[in-house]
Amino acid sequence: MSDNVDAGRQQVKLEQEAKFLARTPSEEIGPMYPVAKPEDRGDDLVRSAGGDAVDGQILYIRGRVTDLTGAPIAGAEVEVWHADPQGRYPHPCDMNPAVIDANFTGWAKIVTGPDGRFHLRSTKPGPYPTSTPGWWRPPHIHFQVTTAHDRLVTQMYFPGEELNEKDELLTRHVRLHQDDRVMARTCELEEGMEADAISIEFNIVLPTPHTIAAQRQARAKE
Ligand SMILES: [Fe+2]
Repeated sequence: MSDNVDAGRQQVKLEQEAKFLARTPSEEIGPMYPVAKPEDRGDDLVRSAGGDAVDGQILYIRGRVTDLTGAPIAGAEVEVWHADPQGRYPHPCDMNPAVIDANFTGWAKIVTGPDGRFHLRSTKPGPYPTSTPGWWRPPHIHFQVTTAHDRLVTQMYFPGEELNEKDELLTRHVRLHQDDRVMARTCELEEGMEADAISIEFNIVLPTPHTIAAQRQARAKE
């Protein structure tokens, strides 16, 4: 069956159901995107290139990349970068005076499987001060997702963090009633995970051409 037929049937199905997921809001890529990519550590940032363990609370991140209908997007490239537990990035522009964890590379690239899923083991990032006096970024993780149709840069936040309510970027999402789309969900620890680790889920929704067209048609009929 051709892709056009598949897309056409999918569009009809969408029109009939008229149910769509809200897309994940975008953010600026920010100044701390790696200027030179470190050696790819795959889906485990807890081990350094030299094999040493990095400091901090172990963090398990899992999620799915889907289109507006919830269908998985396989083969999406998921780049992840974040600060170490002291709030330091291995980046020349990082002015945070805290001591950096030299074993932490802070960047990973993962490709989603056929089910759109990705997994990463890392450490929970710490807060850090910005150049604006009094403004500390809460713990967060940067994502850049690239698919055959689109590219999304966004940030994921941790629920319950004290600094969340004061963060200028997150509160903008709150004002737009889209903060639930950038907030991770805390999950139960699974067998084999460290007892003091934390496990979170963060799902990412991206448009694809046929779901955008179907959404427009469904809206036009409302
Ligand atoms: Fe950041």
